[in-house]
Amino acid sequence: MTWTRHHVLGLKDWTPEEYDTLLQTASSFREVLSSRTKKVPALQGVVVTNLFFEPSTRTRSSFELAAKRLSADILNFSPGTSSLTKGETILDTAKTYLAMGTNLMVIRHKQAGVPQAIALEMDRLNTGVGILNAGDGQHEHPSQGLLDLFTLCCLLDFDHPRSGLLKGKKIAIVGDILHSRVARSNIWSLTAAGATVHLVGPPTLVPEWFKGMEKESHQGKLFLHWDLKPALEKADFVMTLRLQKERMTDYLLPSLREYHQQYGITHRRLAWCHPHVKILHPGPVNRGVEISSELMDDPDFSLIQQQVTSGIAVRMALLFLIGTLSINN
Ligand code: NCD
Repeated sequence: MTWTRHHVLGLKDWTPEEYDTLLQTASSFREVLSSRTKKVPALQGVVVTNLFFEPSTRTRSSFELAAKRLSADILNFSPGTSSLTKGETILDTAKTYLAMGTNLMVIRHKQAGVPQAIALEMDRLNTGVGILNAGDGQHEHPSQGLLDLFTLCCLLDFDHPRSGLLKGKKIAIVGDILHSRVARSNIWSLTAAGATVHLVGPPTLVPEWFKGMEKESHQGKLFLHWDLKPALEKADFVMTLRLQKERMTDYLLPSLREYHQQYGITHRRLAWCHPHVKILHPGPVNRGVEISSELMDDPDFSLIQQQVTSGIAVRMALLFLIGTLSINN
């Protein structure tokens, strides 16, 4: 399939063919990463700019390493030490990096829609610059959704990861769904792959209107629960999410101890799931809150480290597919 997408702002409108192209491309970059040199000249001369207006550990470093493995040049923008503190607008910041020859911008912002606004401006100016959303507010986090998909598909068929492998699988997403852009991107990708997605958490964090996403999804089913047991029963995979206290404007929760008692994922609760169940978490983790510390560190169940490793190959694939279009523009 030929790749035609100039920006990746979300996964809502991705086709099954696009998912599979991405998974195949990531799989070939995974081979590069396991080779001795670990590097290819695919994006030599391309400038990638990381514009992170919100804190990040893994996403930012992972995009940076992915760009370096593709031999691109990478610029890292830090808001605290930038001209933003002197009143420069975000669009003017983006245009400054454009004038330096940036081809790809990776953008994270606490406000939903910022990557899209910059993409619109770049298109209006006919720049050919590609925009990758690295997480915008509570909207989407597409590269996280894709690396989760890649991690799951590789587990099911290491050599030929493809989204069809998830057809009919039961996947529970547990916790703070309301504030989670990771949950939203995963709902689109997992339902598009034909999985059955079960959202579970307290009613304040799993509002009923999430059910509406099912109508817009491609084929999989979406269920909502406020009780953990029916969501976990016979689940093939359990994705736990961080309680995003920084986004909670009101008192939405009982105490953290009570939350852990009701919704925390522990070895004991995995007995409800399918015997081969695996656990995912996008990080950063509140140990002992959404997941027990012992389970998080248990390699028999936890895919958390694999998710981080997968992130590099997946982000190489994204930068490569979009970067190739951008330089041929
Ligand atoms: C997530 C994010 O920033 O949306 N983390 C990540 O990118 N790996 C989830 C979170 O902050 O809880």
